[in-house]
Amino acid sequence: MAMTAATSEIADPSNDEPVLTVGPPTVEDGVAMWRLAGETGVLDVNSRYSYLIWCRDFAATSVVAKLDGEVVGFITGYRRPDAPNVLLVWQVAVGAAARGRGVAGTMLDRVFAQAPGVAFMETTVTPDNEASIAMFTAFARRNSTEIHRSDLFSADLLGDGHEPENLYRIGPIPSEGI
Ligand SMILES: CC(C)(COP(=O)(O)OP(=O)(O)OC[C@H]1O[C@@H](n2cnc3c(N)ncnc32)[C@H](O)[C@@H]1OP(=O)(O)O)[C@@H](O)C(=O)NCCC(=O)NCCS
Repeated sequence: MAMTAATSEIADPSNDEPVLTVGPPTVEDGVAMWRLAGETGVLDVNSRYSYLIWCRDFAATSVVAKLDGEVVGFITGYRRPDAPNVLLVWQVAVGAAARGRGVAGTMLDRVFAQAPGVAFMETTVTPDNEASIAMFTAFARRNSTEIHRSDLFSADLLGDGHEPENLYRIGPIPSEGI
C-alpha cells in the first residue's frame, strides 16, 4: 500500500498498489464515517447528523483516510476552546480490513500536522482498548515525548455499563517532530 498524506495524490497507473490518501474530510465523507464508527463495534456511535456537521465545522482538526478513494478510516478532533494548543482526538476508527498497516498512525501524524500551534494531544480511552493505547503510545514515541494517563469519566458517570474513560495526554509535541 503506497501511503501519502496528500489529499490529491494521483496513482501511478504502472503500479497496482492501492494508494492511501489522508486529509481533512468533507461533508460528503460524513456518512461513510458514521458507518465505519458503527462497524468497529466498540466506538460510541453518534448520530449520522453529528458526523455531517463535524465534517463541516471541524474538518481542519479531523482526517479521513481513503484507500483508492474508499473511506477506510477517520479521526474526529477539535481544539479545546479553553486551551487551543491542545488537540482533543475524539474518535479514531480504521476498518477491519485495513488494520495493522499503519493507517491510524498515518492519520494521527496528519491530524497533528494539520493543526499549527498544537503542543499537546489529548484523548480518552477505555482501559481494555489495548490497540488504542498502543497507537497513542507509538505516536508519543515517534515524537520523543511523554504520555500521561489520568482518570477522567468514571463508569458511574458514563452509565449503561460503559467502561470508564481514562484521559491520555501527550506532549509537549515538537512541531518539527513529524
Ligand atoms: C485502534 C485502531 C484505530 C488502530 O488502527 P490501525 O490502523 O490498525 O493502527 P496502526 O496499524 O496505525 O498501528 C498503530 C500502533 O498501534 C499498534 N497496534 C495497532 N493495533 C494493535 C492491537 N490490536 N494490539 C496491540 N497493538 C496494536 C501498532 O503496533 C502500532 O504501534 P507501533 O508503531 O509501535 O508498531 C483500530 O484497531 C480500530 O479502529 N479499532 C476500533 C476503534 C477503536 O478502538 N478506536 C480507538 C478508540 S477512540
